[in-house]
Amino acid sequence: MQLFDGNELKKVAEIKAKYPESKAALLPVLWMVQEKQGWISQEAMQYVGDLLGIPNEHILGVVTFYTMFNNKPKGKYHLQICTNVSCMLRGGYELFNFVSDKLGIKNNEITDDGMFTIEEVECLGSCGTSPMMQVNNKDYYENLTTEKVENIINNFKTGHEN
Ligand code: FES
Repeated sequence: MQLFDGNELKKVAEIKAKYPESKAALLPVLWMVQEKQGWISQEAMQYVGDLLGIPNEHILGVVTFYTMFNNKPKGKYHLQICTNVSCMLRGGYELFNFVSDKLGIKNNEITDDGMFTIEEVECLGSCGTSPMMQVNNKDYYENLTTEKVENIINNFKTGHEN
């Protein structure tokens, strides 16, 4: 597998040069893979291992430890709903179950059309505006209700802005 192009390999070399040990470059390089492919496959882990000279088991351990890394394909919209204490007390589980029922998928599953994945996550640092949902590792939707989240999902389906 040749995952990275010339520019990306240059970037990997720059990242490696910043650290005395190539293991320290692992997280940023895995992040590059995820940005490029949306998830990190077994082949991609092997590729990164060869590139950085890191054993495959170590990479697998890292990818499965950090929730920010996806080791399965994700939907176009990756909905991460927090059910940690503050969100839980303000309806995080109701929200999660509502979305799960609406989309007909369980935790970490993907809809048949490839549009949505849902994931139950730990605190994302937005407790004061709980319950909340993060989409595609970047956009926060806060102070949610089932009505609001339904609207957001419908807008994603129809391609409207939220
Ligand atoms: S508990 Fe949900 S964002 Fe902190």
